[in-house]
Amino acid sequence: MDKNSPFLNKVIWITGASSGIGEALSYEFSKRGAFLILSSRSESKLLEVKKNLPLNKDKAKVLPLDLEQLNELVKKVEKALSFFGKIDFFISNAGVAVKDFALNTPLEIDVKLMNINYFSSILISKALLPHFIKRNAGHIVVTSSLSGKYGVPKIASYAASKHALHGFYETLRSEIVNYNIFLSIIIPGIIKTEITAHALTGSGNKFGKIDKTFQTAYPVDKAATKIADAVMKRKESAFIGGSEGVTLFLNRLSPWLLRRFIRNHPLKKMRQLKRAIGLN
Ligand SMILES: NC(=O)c1ccc[n+]([C@@H]2O[C@H](COP(=O)([O-])OP(=O)(O)OC[C@H]3O[C@@H](n4cnc5c(N)ncnc54)[C@H](OP(=O)(O)O)[C@@H]3O)[C@@H](O)[C@H]2O)c1
Repeated sequence: MDKNSPFLNKVIWITGASSGIGEALSYEFSKRGAFLILSSRSESKLLEVKKNLPLNKDKAKVLPLDLEQLNELVKKVEKALSFFGKIDFFISNAGVAVKDFALNTPLEIDVKLMNINYFSSILISKALLPHFIKRNAGHIVVTSSLSGKYGVPKIASYAASKHALHGFYETLRSEIVNYNIFLSIIIPGIIKTEITAHALTGSGNKFGKIDKTFQTAYPVDKAATKIADAVMKRKESAFIGGSEGVTLFLNRLSPWLLRRFIRNHPLKKMRQLKRAIGLN
């Protein structure tokens, strides 16, 4: 381990630590010497992650929580603070996707997605901010998505929740600038996790399958290393992923053109676009 790691003995609270990006981040920050608080709903999976941490595994704490239960979250923040007496980094990473047309998605699912992906995140951040302000230190890291920047079919409520994160945290950043509190918004591209299998359809059931594109997507451990590097550099925003990042550029350059590409078959069009500009 690097003795000069900026994460050495820092307390990092990660939500969504039981799988995918959050699990990979847990291993990455552990490698870099941090003390971890691991959260998600599944206590058994979190205990498994804790067992596999490369460093400080005996010090790591498991804090099961359901982000949909907004009324419980302030108590969870108090519990998280009680473990080490401080929190240095809050990684708001847990999230659920949707996989259905907006018209097939009842409002309950829209609300569920907003609660898990957006309201829980801002609620925990607000509860932590007095602690950060008192210590004149703290860093909030938010996992957004390309869907926080533009929309593609069948993920309307997911995209809405991710857009909301940008609105809230970009504003918050401007309010906390004098308190030595940092805020990083991470924009993963397509990362190889089981997010599509865990995604909800309009019926409320899980989609249950890993999309083809995700089976060969950007490796999650590599994504975690890049995210940790971006946090270390206190990047305000960082795209993490493969050549799909070109869509961010296109969205700025010509949103009209991007919309034309993604209108019907976004992934097919994206592959066509990448071929056309020589990316594969
Ligand atoms: N993979 C990608 O390509 C990609 C792209 C862009 C953005 N992202 C974002 O990255 C983040 C992590 O996604 P992932 O790809 O790692 O997906 P994942 O493997 O499905 O992980 C999602 C995590 O969120 C937790 N979670 C879900 N519902 C929860 C709830 N109600 N309360 C507490 N925890 C909950 C899950 O744990 P439990 O089931 O144990 O609760 C799991 O640990 C998400 O915010 C996602 O939107 C991913």
